[in-house]
Amino acid sequence: MGQYVGAIDQGTTSSRFIVFDREGRIIACRQREHAQIYPRPGHVEHDPLEIWTNTQAVMREALESANLGPKDLLSIGITNQRETTLIWDRHTGEPLHNALVWQDTRNDRLVAEYQREGGRDRFRALTGLPLASYFSGLKLRWLLDHVEGARERAEAGDVLFGTIDTWLVWNLTGGPDGGLHITDVTNASRTQLMGLESLAWDDSMLDAFRIPQAMLPEIVSSAQVYGETKAPFAGVPIAGILGDQQAALFGQTCFNPGEAKNTYGTGCFALMNTGETPVPSTCGLVTTVAYKLDGAPAVYALEGSIAITGALVQWLRDNLGLIRDSAEVEQLAGTVEDNGGVYFVPAFSGLYAPHWCESARGLIIGLTRYANKGHIARACLEATAFQTREVLEAMETDSGIPVRELRSDGGMVANTALMQFQADILDVAVVRPQVTETTALGAAYAAGLATGYWRGQDDLVRNWGVDRRWEPAMDPAHRDRIYAAWGRAVKRSFDWDQ
Ligand code: G3P
Repeated sequence: MGQYVGAIDQGTTSSRFIVFDREGRIIACRQREHAQIYPRPGHVEHDPLEIWTNTQAVMREALESANLGPKDLLSIGITNQRETTLIWDRHTGEPLHNALVWQDTRNDRLVAEYQREGGRDRFRALTGLPLASYFSGLKLRWLLDHVEGARERAEAGDVLFGTIDTWLVWNLTGGPDGGLHITDVTNASRTQLMGLESLAWDDSMLDAFRIPQAMLPEIVSSAQVYGETKAPFAGVPIAGILGDQQAALFGQTCFNPGEAKNTYGTGCFALMNTGETPVPSTCGLVTTVAYKLDGAPAVYALEGSIAITGALVQWLRDNLGLIRDSAEVEQLAGTVEDNGGVYFVPAFSGLYAPHWCESARGLIIGLTRYANKGHIARACLEATAFQTREVLEAMETDSGIPVRELRSDGGMVANTALMQFQADILDVAVVRPQVTETTALGAAYAAGLATGYWRGQDDLVRNWGVDRRWEPAMDPAHRDRIYAAWGRAVKRSFDWDQ
């Protein structure tokens, strides 16, 4: 019997494979970045074959690094960047187009058309989601409308749709040779094609978006044995799938209503567990499936999705050359006392929660001769914290539950100045757990629960421990002043791209 559980974490910028032990400690980890393809403003693509190649490579490399083989793994969980949409030929495994990444806004005209007919929230009660370029359903519609022959071949059952979880499971379990075509409820809940309560593809949504049923994967729970991997990793049960933000919620063991986490990655995604009944949002959040363990009822979450946070630091590095590596931003921001009146609204993909404004575009405002690159770096980090406050306020209003502490994870939690500023701006304690790889951990937990590696969720809660806690310390009048200025800056970014 395998002594460890593995997790594939296929994210926006990289693919990782991490091996965990029963205490949730990392035994082995390997990571590879993949190309970000930007053919035009607003278009963001990934090469699905590169992602599949990298996934196999990191699995192999991680196992080799710890002298392990597939037989040492009791099971594997998968977690993935959500909403990213692809279609491929069922018989050859050849993608018909690069994957449309969640940040891609090329379907914005479609979104606007649907909105004109019934408003942004016309499908919210059924799917939990506002109309937005973000979700998979209208990305898929764009592919069916623009890739030659795609619709006819999909209707004939020759072309399959999937999010990245679906793509990886299909390939891992044999691809054209009998690969499983499945997606879990959390990923399905991001398509806008699934009924939030029925947990099944909804005919009225398929009709509305003109999506052929034949191309859709089967919806499964987040933790059960789906099937086994084929060569070269033959014989390992795949037993957990969770969208990456839901996986982080699970890895942070936010199992009780009111418990919330925020993941600071490319974007920021704050999720609050709201229990077994979906809570509708009136404040611009998303209602989503948090997880569903095999046989148990689904658990729901309210989510504040923010498109650009860590990606803004990368932009400072790659597009402006202001820093050489991402970690330098903390140092550069530390060269100034405060933001010097500079605010940076990173509306690169429009604005997501709670504003949902496709036509917003990024801006830097408040510049004077006094401002320098330190202020810009600082404004860039502060934008992360301000955006998080916006979604947390919405969360408290929608749920009626005050957030007492915010469990944080993701790459940016290494930035202690940002975490302090986050606690200050929220006026809520921010907590960093000992294992910050909570996304991969959540997927491993799901797979390990399904295969008896852990007996139950209590085992997982016991694994969770605090590494560091930041208490709010900012003068309230100062907090109010700078947050109000942020709000003014955001309003200026609206409707720029008309
Ligand atoms: O919804 C998009 C989200 O799943 C992407 O997460 O961590 O890959 O940027 P990440």
